[in-house]
Amino acid sequence: MNISVFSSNKEVSARAAELIAELLREKPDAVLGLATGDTPIGVYEALVERFKRGEVSFRQASAFNLDEYAGLPPEHEQSYAAYMAKHLLNEIDLPLDRAYIPNGLAADLEAESKAYDRLLEQAGQLDLQLLGIGHNGHIGFNEPGPHLHAGTHVVALTEETRDANSRYFDHLEDVPSQAVTMGVGWMMKAKHVVLIARGEGKAAVVKEALFGPITTSCPGSLLQLHPRLTVLLDEGAARDVQGLPGVRYL
Ligand code: GLP
Repeated sequence: MNISVFSSNKEVSARAAELIAELLREKPDAVLGLATGDTPIGVYEALVERFKRGEVSFRQASAFNLDEYAGLPPEHEQSYAAYMAKHLLNEIDLPLDRAYIPNGLAADLEAESKAYDRLLEQAGQLDLQLLGIGHNGHIGFNEPGPHLHAGTHVVALTEETRDANSRYFDHLEDVPSQAVTMGVGWMMKAKHVVLIARGEGKAAVVKEALFGPITTSCPGSLLQLHPRLTVLLDEGAARDVQGLPGVRYL
């Protein structure tokens, strides 16, 4: 595990974007695993800037998003489909038929999950999985609990997660109670996982996930077992890991 701390979130985003751009230069048809939430927005901004400068192309790449809320149409501004369109997909040259996001509107979400797994299997291994982490340690929407799933599945969102994500909705009741998420198996099989976190609000969970016990009570802790995990933090998110093994300040 390699943990880099940057003095600002802008630098975290720039470094994550650089890793993705480097991968696409080496392997133009790379399979990317993409995340949503506030944290990756700066990464996508930096990638769009690089694309506009002609430094990176996604033309041959494909991308799989981690998750989608159940019941939100892609036109709903809080759907992850809308998020991806706004922050990345409408701005770059990645063919939309190779930008996969689970369909939260599918009548049969179990069947949708299986279909998503088949698409992932066909694509082979994810070359790079970009990840954020929830305050309760969730990755994608794999919530803490007695067990985790390897494959894509339907998940009931915890009240903590609904509450955290209610900032994007008018009312807490508007936050969907279910989602479809890629399972932790796909993340663990990715060739490279890039975990990003920013702000002191994430400091405790960053320490717990990276230095605490490996437990399904903190899904992010599984990442300690990943053979190639790059962690990019700003100083706030790194507050509780200063001086711990593998943490370097850039
Ligand atoms: C969301 C997403 C996760 C994301 C997390 C943290 O619910 N499903 O993929 O990592 O919560 O989001 P943020 O970056 O906004 O803190």
